[in-house]
Amino acid sequence: MGSEHRRRGARDERSAEERRDHGADHRVRRRSSPPLRVSSAGQDADSTGKRIVLGVSGGIAAYKACELLRRLRSLGHDVTVVPTAAALTFVGSATFEALSGNPVSGDVFTDVPDVRHVSVGQRADLVIVAPATADLLARAAAGLADDLLTATLLVTRAPVLMAPAMHSEMWSHPATVANVRTLRSRGVTVLPPAVGRLTGADSGPGRMAEPEHLAQLAQLVLHPTVAHRPALPFDLDGRRIVVSAGGTREALDPVRFLGNRSSGRQGYAIALVAAARGADVTLIAANTSLADPPAVEVRRVVSAADLQRAVKDAARQADAVVMTAAVADFRPAEVAEHKIKKVADSEPAVLELVQNPDVLAGLVADRGASRMPVIAGFAAETGDATTSPIEFGLQKLARKGCDLLVVNQVGHTGGFESDDNAAVILSSGAILSSGAPDSTEMAAVEVPFGPKTALAAAVCDSIVTALNAAKATGTGQSSDNLSTPKTHVRQANPQGASP
Ligand code: CTP
Repeated sequence: MGSEHRRRGARDERSAEERRDHGADHRVRRRSSPPLRVSSAGQDADSTGKRIVLGVSGGIAAYKACELLRRLRSLGHDVTVVPTAAALTFVGSATFEALSGNPVSGDVFTDVPDVRHVSVGQRADLVIVAPATADLLARAAAGLADDLLTATLLVTRAPVLMAPAMHSEMWSHPATVANVRTLRSRGVTVLPPAVGRLTGADSGPGRMAEPEHLAQLAQLVLHPTVAHRPALPFDLDGRRIVVSAGGTREALDPVRFLGNRSSGRQGYAIALVAAARGADVTLIAANTSLADPPAVEVRRVVSAADLQRAVKDAARQADAVVMTAAVADFRPAEVAEHKIKKVADSEPAVLELVQNPDVLAGLVADRGASRMPVIAGFAAETGDATTSPIEFGLQKLARKGCDLLVVNQVGHTGGFESDDNAAVILSSGAILSSGAPDSTEMAAVEVPFGPKTALAAAVCDSIVTALNAAKATGTGQSSDNLSTPKTHVRQANPQGASP
């Protein structure tokens, strides 16, 4: 806990400094284009120390609630566990009490003077139900209040996140489908379950989302920029989104490669949040070691050429493509068939490189005059003596012809292995207004230093805006988009995409 606090303290100091520098650097110094002032998505504040109710219903996945509880506690939250009677046949209340440090009861007749059937829900900043069984979903959808958990769900006005776990047949039964629809229509976030091995020998959709993903989504929902319900709008339902993540590796010989340090965390966060918002997500993962987000189809690739094939293939059906992958710009001209040996006392061999295709630019070229799929790129920029990182970003957005460019200012992010990030999302003029695209304008949304899921949510908002604009105007992206931009500032709202 001590080192956790020290880490947080160091991060707070660093992020405060970064905010100052970041803000100062946002003024574009070049004369060739008008100044771009970037509006902020909110405060860079911590979301620790919140009151979370962890509801646990009676499924085999109840054991995973213990790991989730441990993670939420280590993030600094005060967690009250409310199990159903059936949950206590899987995990005893002593385990939940020891891990949470709070008393545990699931009935409404314990601690009656404290009026727990009302007070637990009223005090909560967030209610998570994990696992949520078919029975629990049905009782919640019907508005029953026959135990402490369902009473809490009726009382609370806090965001509610449910992680279903059940057999595939139960998940796809029309009764469960209707209950999930009802709960979502009321603003409850019902996550799609993961596909995989179930309790018996069978497998299919029905596995509970992993605790690490639930903890990430909890941090997003509790993030200070998210002040209203629904925490995760179900606004990408029926949309197909392709996300590339990680870093490509270009082989030198059978055992060596040229690579980069991208961990893939930002792309995985986008896949996680987009799937939670209803999208059908395909994640093209280049050399990552992260757990698959729930209900996301993961296709693994190694080199830039592999990645290009996989992205092009998936993009054919996609509504949006988000290129977070760090694609190597160059690869060795030749790959040695055998391991390259050093020869004593001789000069090291000179490595000849050839250029890789630009996958993003290829996607833009392939869609031609159509405005679909929406295409988003990522760029890490440092700026130089005369040009700010944001202006480099604006130039890259215009040059590449994509709809969105998420600009990380190098040195102002949490780094490759970090769970935090800061960025400015630039939008091309064509998606600014749904009625009359203005190809000479660009918009900028600043997402301050915070969890990568918060930046993911802001990217999803921008995609929703772009999809709505494309729908309203039909096809016909103008090549005028490539002209020098006039800038236009929009107020960011990372969870409330405006259509
Ligand atoms: N990208 C790509 N194919 C490449 C290189 C980059 O699709 N061969 C994509 C990245 O996934 C990212 C965007 O292009 O979404 C911008 O990447 P970046 O490396 O900043 O672009 P470059 O064109 O290589 O620009 P620079 O010269 O600044 O490195």
